[in-house]
Amino acid sequence: MELKEVIGKRQSVRKFKADDVPNDDIREMIDAARVAPSGKNMQNWHFVVVKNKGLMHKVAEVIRNKNEEIAKRMDGVDREKSDRFRKFADRFTLFFLDAPALIIVMTQTYIPSGYNEYELIGADPHLLDDLLSHRNPGMQSLGAAIEHLYLRAVDLGYGCCWLTSANYAAGAIEELVRTEAGFRDETYYMAALIALGVPDGEPKSPGRKPLEEIYTLVE
Ligand SMILES: Cc1cc2nc3c(=O)[nH]c(=O)nc-3n(C[C@H](O)[C@H](O)[C@H](O)COP(=O)(O)O)c2cc1C
Repeated sequence: MELKEVIGKRQSVRKFKADDVPNDDIREMIDAARVAPSGKNMQNWHFVVVKNKGLMHKVAEVIRNKNEEIAKRMDGVDREKSDRFRKFADRFTLFFLDAPALIIVMTQTYIPSGYNEYELIGADPHLLDDLLSHRNPGMQSLGAAIEHLYLRAVDLGYGCCWLTSANYAAGAIEELVRTEAGFRDETYYMAALIALGVPDGEPKSPGRKPLEEIYTLVE
């Protein structure tokens, strides 16, 4: 497919057919992520691709438990908000169970340029936090890699959904990554999940801002 067509076809897919995603196709997608640009060429990513249904159920279970733990604690504070959270969590954090593959996206901390230097000169902590949290190049690099993977998946006839809503369960998922998936490098932590498979139906786009709203041209 032409790149423009792939970009136009990409949609978040939350319903999947049962069809397998062959390992050769998965390698193609990871290879697309591999060549993405990254700050200082750090390549701060590792993709744990789970096709094992037992492990996918375990990931879902830890997310479900966390959803319920948060909702229960919210019950005592604001029932309306906890009900809303339950509905949101049911809809947006667990649908990957229908997908034939789940990618657990692991990353490493990226110390931005200027951070160590700021620290050395005793700069205001909010400047350090600003570099690390708001503009962090590590997350920007990871986004580039995920999008490469995503577009190659679409190119090969698959669909994905990028998921960060379940990141509050990251600690428990990382534990599964180490104990059950065998990726034990503790310098890595989870940043996102990706549900992957053959789309079942045509998802509807939630729409976009008009072009004029998102850029400023200075000639
Ligand atoms: C960083 C990121 C996190 C996302 N997290 C979730 C998520 O947790 N659950 C979900 O259902 N969709 C998630 N999405 C999908 C977005 O909701 C979706 O991209 C957006 O609504 C635009 O729709 P489209 O992808 O179909 O064009 C995420 C997308 C991105 C880029």
